[in-house]
Amino acid sequence: MIRTPKIALIAFVISCMFIVAPVSAEDEHARGRQLYALCAQCHGQNGAGAQLFLAPAIAGLDQWYVQSQFLLFQSGVRGLNWQDVGGLRMHPMSQWVKGDADVAAVSAYVASLPRVNPPPQVVGGNAETGKALYSTCASCHGVDGKGNEAMNAPPLIHASDWYLVSSLEKYKAGIRGSNPKNTNAIIMRGMSNLLPNDQAIKDVVAYITTMNNEGN
Ligand code: HEC
Ligand code: HEC
Repeated sequence: MIRTPKIALIAFVISCMFIVAPVSAEDEHARGRQLYALCAQCHGQNGAGAQLFLAPAIAGLDQWYVQSQFLLFQSGVRGLNWQDVGGLRMHPMSQWVKGDADVAAVSAYVASLPRVNPPPQVVGGNAETGKALYSTCASCHGVDGKGNEAMNAPPLIHASDWYLVSSLEKYKAGIRGSNPKNTNAIIMRGMSNLLPNDQAIKDVVAYITTMNNEGN
């Protein structure tokens, strides 16, 4: 009689341990895929992006970068500037994924998608001129454009070229990189000023896209 509540308590504690036990990698992948159904509406089933929705290619981006940007959108540190049309679309979407485990699962799923080579959309860039401009960028984003987590610098290859252009324009205009809490964007905002005008932006992006197919 006295023991029953104790046994019930122990059984309850044990069942709780199972509930909080970490999910397997397969479970996390399945959950990530399930959550990605929302993202696919703009970023595409394969993560190749859709310019019509201003949604960039995200397939195979490094998990640390996807997750950190996702959390920045969620907290409104990124995407709430009134001039940031794309960011203002992504910010409310980030609210649909609740809790650290789901954010990690959907980020891991995005990172697991094979990288894509989005067809070039930007015209008028000179890759030769861009190559010289890129030499400064390489110190953070890598000579191969694969990024460097230690510098918080994301990969730039296999990206939508129109999105690279729009991001550089946003950094230069302070639409991205003006929130004091977004320290990485502030660093990049400073760097964007190394590109003096729209032509330099197009040139460096033209060079970045040439790195997509060199075994990268
Ligand atoms: C309504 C359309 C829409 C939906 C749905 C959507 N996104 Fe986005 N997403 C965008 C847009 C637009 C941008 C570009 C923001 C910008 O220009 O700065 C973006 C940007 C991003 C970025 C930043 C990429 C980078 O290189 O910095 C990540 C990561 C991202 N989205 C992940 C997701 C995930 C994960 C989901 C699903 C939970 C999702 N998005 C759902 C429209 C959408
Ligand atoms: C001092 C290191 C550093 C240098 C040099 C640098 N960047 Fe960056 N870059 C970063 C960091 C850090 C981020 C992430 C910023 C953020 O979170 O918004 C970034 C982000 C970007 C993005 C946004 C990518 C995305 O997916 O949204 C682009 C585009 C970019 N850099 C291009 C360049 C170009 C082009 C150059 C050379 C002119 C350059 N960067 C030089 C550190 C650097």
